[in-house]
Amino acid sequence: MSDALRFDGRVAVVSGAGRGLGREFALLLAARGAAVVVNDIGVSADSDRYLASDRVSTEMAADARRRNAARSVVDEITAAGGRAVANTADISDPAQARSIVHDALRAFGRVDIVINNAGVVITHPFGELSAEDLRLTHAVHVMGAVNILRAAIPPMRQQGYGRVVNIASVEGGLIGSPDFEAYAAAKGALIGLTRHVARIGAPVGIQANAVLPGGRTRAAARSGRKRDDGVDRSAASVAPPVAWLCHENCAVTGRLFAVSASSVRQVYSAVSAGYRGPAGTSLGVDEISSGWFRITDRTGAQTISGLDELLVNWNAQEKEGAS
Ligand SMILES: NC(=O)c1ccc[n+]([C@@H]2O[C@H](COP(=O)([O-])OP(=O)(O)OC[C@H]3O[C@@H](n4cnc5c(N)ncnc54)[C@H](O)[C@@H]3O)[C@@H](O)[C@H]2O)c1
Repeated sequence: MSDALRFDGRVAVVSGAGRGLGREFALLLAARGAAVVVNDIGVSADSDRYLASDRVSTEMAADARRRNAARSVVDEITAAGGRAVANTADISDPAQARSIVHDALRAFGRVDIVINNAGVVITHPFGELSAEDLRLTHAVHVMGAVNILRAAIPPMRQQGYGRVVNIASVEGGLIGSPDFEAYAAAKGALIGLTRHVARIGAPVGIQANAVLPGGRTRAAARSGRKRDDGVDRSAASVAPPVAWLCHENCAVTGRLFAVSASSVRQVYSAVSAGYRGPAGTSLGVDEISSGWFRITDRTGAQTISGLDELLVNWNAQEKEGAS
């Protein structure tokens, strides 16, 4: 991103910004003029797993018990001449999550940008996660985002402007991964939430997109994805695309972008032309079996990657089917 793109006058809230990817998002937005609420619980619900793992460095393990993660990022920002306040809310608690937006309004008078980034990684072989593990994962990734958005959307709607970026996952939300049962369900839900917010936000100037990142953090190290091939997979490399999606010049919504190793790729969803029976009938099992090639054929498939395309293409296909 060239230095021309600035966020002066904009106010951002970033959850889980005390370390890892969130910290980089907060630092970059602040360096380019945004005032930032740096949220981080400090010691997260998955911290024991970092202490126990032999895949994370000693430094990362020690960091897992650090309570003042948000404060130290704020100190970095203010030392560099930026504006930021720390917030230690647990985003899975609705009242605490609201405090993040209240801090933005109290300290800086508005909220323009929400980056729902905080996350926990709790893994076990399929079926072995406890109900509490499942609840907790959903509470942080999904309800955490919902809790923050419930507080942020009303002021955004009032000002007619908002940018939301939800941090999802390729392995969690798209392709699955062994042992990531709760995580996959939660990140899939976050993608659905992104498209929902894009749709309700469109008439009132609020855009929402999801980023599916890959960056070297303690979470990535623990999942065994660390590769030393000289490619830049730093957490910082994920920040520019996220910042761009938060900028007023960026006019996309309801979309997913995979970001990793200095690459940015749009993830498309598509609906095939499909197979339809005569109007007014429903398809039987035998017809579905014989029409399977057409149902799964990608020729003539239409993307539904953006809100605009989703509505236009979906309506067009429905009309075609009815005629
Ligand atoms: N690093 C990757 O390659 C990668 C890949 C896919 C998705 N992600 C997603 O990116 C996001 C950031 O991950 P990361 O790799 O930087 O992990 P990380 O563990 O380094 O950072 C996550 C931060 O969220 C905070 N947090 C956890 N629960 C919280 C809560 N209830 N309230 C407030 N803060 C809380 C933690 O304290 C931590 O500082 C996560 O949502 C993760 O699932 C990361």
